[in-house]
Amino acid sequence: MQKTAFASDNTSGICPEALESFIAANTSNMASYGNDEWTRRACDAIRDLFQTDCDVFFVFNGTAANSLALASLCQSYHSIVCHKLSHVETDECGGPEFFSNGTKLLLAEGEDGKLDAREIARLVAARTDIHYPKPRAVTITQSTEVGTVYSLAEVQAIGAACREMGLAFHMDGARFANAVAHLGVSPAELTWQAGVDVLSFGGTKMGMPVGEAVVFFNHELAQDFAYRCKQAGQLASKMRFLAAPWVGMLHDNAWTRRAAHANAMATRLSEALAALPGVSLMFPTQANAVFVNLPASAAQALKDNNWAFYSFIGAGGARFVCSWATTVEEVDALIADVKAGL
Ligand SMILES: Cc1ncc(COP(=O)(O)O)c(C=O)c1O
Repeated sequence: MQKTAFASDNTSGICPEALESFIAANTSNMASYGNDEWTRRACDAIRDLFQTDCDVFFVFNGTAANSLALASLCQSYHSIVCHKLSHVETDECGGPEFFSNGTKLLLAEGEDGKLDAREIARLVAARTDIHYPKPRAVTITQSTEVGTVYSLAEVQAIGAACREMGLAFHMDGARFANAVAHLGVSPAELTWQAGVDVLSFGGTKMGMPVGEAVVFFNHELAQDFAYRCKQAGQLASKMRFLAAPWVGMLHDNAWTRRAAHANAMATRLSEALAALPGVSLMFPTQANAVFVNLPASAAQALKDNNWAFYSFIGAGGARFVCSWATTVEEVDALIADVKAGL
């Protein structure tokens, strides 16, 4: 049997708090397409969390959340600045470009998978003529595709650059929970107070069965978004089952508690691997993903022992991702198998 604990944070099952409210929503008939009590409660819980009157939409997955959110910011002749390793660039099969009818992604550099605010100015100023797609938005991933986290100051600097250049600011928060757990700042500070206009708020990776929330802090940008979701096949008729897990996860901070556990497991793994001869960390471990260069013999030993892990994500190397469900025993078993392979 394949050991899938570290292949991704979407190999885990449903987190108990999410499951409990999912089951609680399974009662009698209820209004469909989001006109139900659970959707209302989930939207209110998200508004409470962000301490603002945001517009909330639930979609099935992260690719749709990002693609539709970005499409709502742009016309076909626009461009979006993103890091060259960003998920929207590398892993969404052209979804953002497709749903925006051709908006171009402008790829930026930046250490540790993070977009440098200065890169925005460089890319925006690179061309201002009619022949080039007009920069309209910036998107960053928090936490990043390589397991790092933008500090609050870094997000604020990008927000300031966006404001200065008249760009909309989107955050891919597939692992927003892990970033908040790492930074210990409020969700409001890390988003709209820093200039974020729209957040793809990840549910699946924090422990839900399925579903992400698209959170608009800018009401104007949310206009007609419901139609976008419907047209893209992302309007759930039994919406209460996408919404209910949010009620459970956001209650009593279960979401950040569970994310903090995932982060702690990643730190344990990272520290142990980094101490081994011939193994080097590729990026600081700040969230729930660990990226390492492994000697070929160790990588082979893991494969021989049926561990599943990715080696094509981000900048390459071996990627191990921890989740709410990762146990100390699993972490230690992986470490032991790496050691045995050295
Ligand atoms: C950073 C990031 N954004 C978006 C997504 C897209 O999620 P989904 O696979 O649900 O479409 C992922 C999934 O791995 C991700 O890692």
